[in-house]
Amino acid sequence: MTRNMRNGPRIVLALAVLLALGVPLAAIAASQGGGAAAAPAATPSFTRDVAPLIQQKCAGCHRTGGIAPFSLESARQAHAWAAPIAVAVQERLMPPWPPSRRSPAFVSEETRILTADERATILAWARAGGRIDGPALDAVSQAPLEVREGETLLTVRMPTTYRPSAPKGTTDDYRCFLLDPKLSSDVSVTSSRIEPRATKVVHHVILFRVPASEVADANRLDAAAPGPGWTCFGGTGLSAGDGGSVQEFLNNANWISAWAPGWGGNRLPDGNGVPLPAGSRIVMQVHYNLLNGRARDRSRALLTVAPAAAGLTPVQTMLLPAPVELACAKGEKGPLCNRAEALAALSRKYGSTAAFVPAGLLLLCGRSASNPVPSPISRCDRRIDRPTTILAVAGHMHLLGVSIRLELNPDTPRARVLLEIPRWDFHWQNAYTLKQPIVAEPGDIVRVTCRHDVRKRVHTAHTGQAIPRTPRYILWGEGTTDEMCLGLLQVTRG
Ligand code: HEC
Repeated sequence: MTRNMRNGPRIVLALAVLLALGVPLAAIAASQGGGAAAAPAATPSFTRDVAPLIQQKCAGCHRTGGIAPFSLESARQAHAWAAPIAVAVQERLMPPWPPSRRSPAFVSEETRILTADERATILAWARAGGRIDGPALDAVSQAPLEVREGETLLTVRMPTTYRPSAPKGTTDDYRCFLLDPKLSSDVSVTSSRIEPRATKVVHHVILFRVPASEVADANRLDAAAPGPGWTCFGGTGLSAGDGGSVQEFLNNANWISAWAPGWGGNRLPDGNGVPLPAGSRIVMQVHYNLLNGRARDRSRALLTVAPAAAGLTPVQTMLLPAPVELACAKGEKGPLCNRAEALAALSRKYGSTAAFVPAGLLLLCGRSASNPVPSPISRCDRRIDRPTTILAVAGHMHLLGVSIRLELNPDTPRARVLLEIPRWDFHWQNAYTLKQPIVAEPGDIVRVTCRHDVRKRVHTAHTGQAIPRTPRYILWGEGTTDEMCLGLLQVTRG
C-alpha cells in the first residue's frame, strides 16, 4: 500500500510525459507487461523464442502455397512483416480463433491460440523492430491424420478438377461437390480432414451427409450446373428445395464436420461417431477465396471411419435456428424494405416453401407470425427432452452476422456458455469439439442468440466480400443476400 502510494503519482507523471512525447500507449502497455501477458525481461531472440512460435502457430497457414496471403517461413519474411504482426497479434486477429474466452475449452485449441506468454513474446519482439538474430526453423508439415485401431481411412475426392470462379464483382466462390464414399456397409465417422489441392484458395470446408433418399435430388442439382458441383452459399441447397416442414428441416441434421486450414482434424471423443449409412453420399461445401488467385482445385477429404460392429454411440446434429427479421437501416429506402415484398422476392427465388420458413421459425420460437417485430437480435430457446450429451458446437450466420452465442440454461445459476463468437467472420467458420462434453438434462434450455447489422452491407464492402448493398428487409434464407441464425450441436441422446 505504502509503496503504491509513493509510486503512484510518479507513474502517472511518467505516463503523462511519455504520452506528451508521443510514445504510443501500446508500447507502454508492452513495457509494463499489460494484464495477463507478462512481458519477457529482455527483447526475445528471434531464433530461440519467436521462430518456434511462428512455426507452430502461424506457418500452418502462412507458408508458400498456404491459405494466408503471405509466408512467414523465413527470417527475412518474419522481419518484413513485424509491424503488421504486432497489430494483428495485439488486436487478437491472428492467429484466427473466433471463440471468446468465455467459451469452454475446445479440442486442439492449444495448437492455435497463443498463451499469454507466447503473445507477449511475439509482441515484444515485433514492437522492438522484429530483429533477426539467426535463422527461422523449417516450416512444419501437417501431422498425419491419426487412424485408431479398428478404424479405416476413407478417402473421397472431387470427381474432376474445378476452376473456382465468382459472380461478377465478388471474390468468393461457394461450391458444393457430391462425393460418393461407395459404402456397402454402415460406418461411423470419427474424424475428418480436408486436403485441398489448391491450398492457397480453399478457405473453409463443411461436410454434409446426404441420405440415400436425397441422392436423386443431389444428382439433379449437380447435373443442372455446368462443371463439377453447384454453387451453394448458406448450406447445400438441398433441404430448402425439398418441400420439408420446419420440423423436418430441423431433423435434417446432416452435418458430418467442418474444417478450416491450419487446424488438424477434429476428433470426436472416444466411443462416438457420426453415422454414415451404406448408400449415403457426402456433399463437400468448399469456400474458395479468389483474392488469392484462381488455381484449379481437386480437393479430397480424409475420414476415419469405424465399422458398425464397433458399436459407437451415434452422434446426431441438433439444429437450433432462430428467426431473422432485419428491417432496413435508418435512411435506407427501397421497395424491398417492405417485409411482404422481401418475402415475395424470397419465394420467387427459392420457391414457395422458402417463404414459409420465416413464419415457421417465428412460431417455433414463440413469436407472433402474423405480427413479426424486426430486431437486430435473434433468439430462440429449445427445451431438451431427453438426456443429451453435447460433444461439439458450431454457429452459423451469413455476411451480416456480428456475434453469436449458444448457452445452456441462460439466466439461471446453472448457466453455461457453450460457444460465444463475439466478432463473427464468415471466413472463419468451424465446428468446435468440447474438451469436456457437457451433459444437459430433460427440461434444460439451450438458447441461441445472434446479432446482425444490416449496415455491414455497406461497411464491409471494401473487403472484396460480396455484400449486396440494395436495401432490403432480411429474412432467413440460403442466399448471399439472406441471413441465418443457426446454432448446431453435435450430441448423443439417451
Ligand atoms: C488458420 C490460418 C492462419 C493462421 C494459423 C494464422 N494466420 Fe495470419 N492470416 C491468415 C489469413 C487467411 C490472412 C488474410 C486475412 C484474413 O483472411 O483474415 C492472414 C493475415 C495475417 C496478417 C495481415 C493482417 C492484415 O493486416 O491484413 C498478419 C500480420 C498475420 N496474418 C499474422 C499472423 C501471425 C503472426 C500468426 C501466428 C501467431 C498467424 N497470422 C496465424 C491465416 C492465418
